[in-house]
Amino acid sequence: MDIRRELTELRDQIRHHDYCYYVLAKPEISDYEYDRLYKRLESIENEHPDLITPDSPTQRVSGEPTKIFNTVRHRQPMLSLSNTYSEADLHDFDRRVRSLLGENTGFEYVTELKIDGIAISLIYENGRFVRGVTRGDGVSGDDVTNNLRTIRSLPLRVYGNRDLPEIMEIRGEVFLDRRTFELVNEARKEKEEPLFANPRNSAAGTMKLQDARIVAERGLSLFCYQLIDYSGNPGSRLHLENLARLRSFGFPVNPYTGVCKNIDEVVSYCRKWEDERPQLQYEIDGVVIKINDLGQRDLLGSTAKSPRWAIAFKFKPGQVQTRLHKITWQVGRTGTVTPVAELEPVLLAGTTVSRATLHNPDEIHRKDIREGDTVFIEKGGDIIPKVVGVLTALRSKSSRPYKIPDKCPVCGTGLQRIPDEAALRCPNFNCPMQVKRRIGHFASRTAMDIDGLGEAITDMLVDEGLIQDFGDLYTLVQERLENLDGMGKLSAANLQKAIEKSKERPLDRLIFALGIPYIGTTAARALAEHYGDLELLMKTDREELETIDGIGDKMAESVCGYFQNKKYLAMIAKLKKAGVRFRYQAQKVGDSLKDLTFVITGTLPSLSREEAREFIISHGGKTASAVSSKTSYLVAGENAGSKLDKARDLKIPILSEVELLNMA
Ligand code: IVH
Repeated sequence: MDIRRELTELRDQIRHHDYCYYVLAKPEISDYEYDRLYKRLESIENEHPDLITPDSPTQRVSGEPTKIFNTVRHRQPMLSLSNTYSEADLHDFDRRVRSLLGENTGFEYVTELKIDGIAISLIYENGRFVRGVTRGDGVSGDDVTNNLRTIRSLPLRVYGNRDLPEIMEIRGEVFLDRRTFELVNEARKEKEEPLFANPRNSAAGTMKLQDARIVAERGLSLFCYQLIDYSGNPGSRLHLENLARLRSFGFPVNPYTGVCKNIDEVVSYCRKWEDERPQLQYEIDGVVIKINDLGQRDLLGSTAKSPRWAIAFKFKPGQVQTRLHKITWQVGRTGTVTPVAELEPVLLAGTTVSRATLHNPDEIHRKDIREGDTVFIEKGGDIIPKVVGVLTALRSKSSRPYKIPDKCPVCGTGLQRIPDEAALRCPNFNCPMQVKRRIGHFASRTAMDIDGLGEAITDMLVDEGLIQDFGDLYTLVQERLENLDGMGKLSAANLQKAIEKSKERPLDRLIFALGIPYIGTTAARALAEHYGDLELLMKTDREELETIDGIGDKMAESVCGYFQNKKYLAMIAKLKKAGVRFRYQAQKVGDSLKDLTFVITGTLPSLSREEAREFIISHGGKTASAVSSKTSYLVAGENAGSKLDKARDLKIPILSEVELLNMA
């Protein structure tokens, strides 16, 4: 075959496979096959250097390192976007657009993800990439052509040539995806080079490199979002069509483009992506909203800085950086000792944050977090912010690795490692902090809900020696309360009333309030439903516990352990003595349901679960949480799930609410 023809074919093939791999992420051939084509091309080019063209796939990394970048003026200024963090501003923007276009004019918005990278402009002449420039000050920027050529998804020569403008400018965003960013930082850490703070900084830093060989190693990516046709052809009049053209030319275009008929649809798109952004492989910092029709864009025009036909809706930053002043240790009610970062207060997603969790000692070591460091904090799915990383570049020379304490910061007892867990534990059951937090948990809103017994008062009561555990709350005398700092007669009386009232809380709350490790509100409810009486629960065994829906091995073990602990038993005895309700309070009104066990499932038309249960118990019946051969009846309401299926399998009679009420 003619060598020239073979060269052209090889280049076309490689270009096609680059497109499949880097743009579509759908390779058509194996790496081996690809390497074979590439090597063949390289060897022909080695033999015929005169036949090498700048758009050959082998020419992505070319040229010697440069000293400076040339400054190039943009053909059209690269404007910035006006941006906002508020929905109200989006509505204002929409009102302005409508009034400028005329209220009765139809129009559409196109919504795109706002990629958090750096803006670039690419010039193509007759389908060949000739120059790439950074945004710079918007009027002129740096010629970074050599660096951009290394981006494998950037076509050195466009794909196909239908409707190809002689000269066109493509604008887009260069970025590093999350995974590549991590790899870059890992490599830097190994070489003891300062780490990049985030993918955006690493992309910006990479674009500034004068040696394209290093740029190539970094693995930059690209999304294009604008095509400017300088050929004088009428071309497309819709932005969406231009995006489609960009795709057909082989440029990488982000797939999540939306078309919105009104601003409410725009708002939903923004909200959706604010939630879903962590699932993307790359970082976005908002959504760009643009008018689809280019003619309408011309009508709206631009101010000196930004177009009137577009706006950026920015997400509140998910991550910010701040200084970690100190690491303190918090002792929980079960004795777990957890590290907390005391931070220089910063605004994060709308709230000021001054503390963040560090999870456990291993986490501190793994991330090498030190006092005095500049750290990144993030609000994940939880409300509590966490420290996600350290900016080691800003660390002072005198900084030393953090030493994990070996004694409880509150009582001085030697700390232990909880077997199989990363957590540290203070083994002293009487550690004042554990005592306080156990009482705090008991009194909390979702537990016994004792109004007025906040952390400060609890701490005072313990420190003054008035109480040693939650059982003592019910024998507090008002005179002692009144004499506490800042208490007074009225608040003392109110607190006592609140304590008194808490005696009547439902059983599931009481079980939760006891603070049995691993028993949260849901498990507590299952236990309450099954046993109906705290004293029955106290006498139970693992075997029975494990038959209960929602109670796993770990929970069963924990429940048994709790009720074998004499200290807890003594506290519970105090509760009993004080008259705290241990059972579902059901006044006996008859025994028509005697010897019958009911399971309730689904939503009943008028009774709540608790009311239905009380009804059954008050008529001498029993309730259980899981269907078994011992179940006499299943009371089923709307949306009954697996329990209904199981009852049918076991041929257990099924009752409606009315049928239940009629049985008594
Ligand atoms: S359109 C005049 N679309 O956000 C409008 N920009 O200030 C030109 N960006 O400098 C921008 N993703 O770096 C547009 N889908 C997108 C974008 C996007 C990221 C960046 C771009 C621009 C900045 C806006």
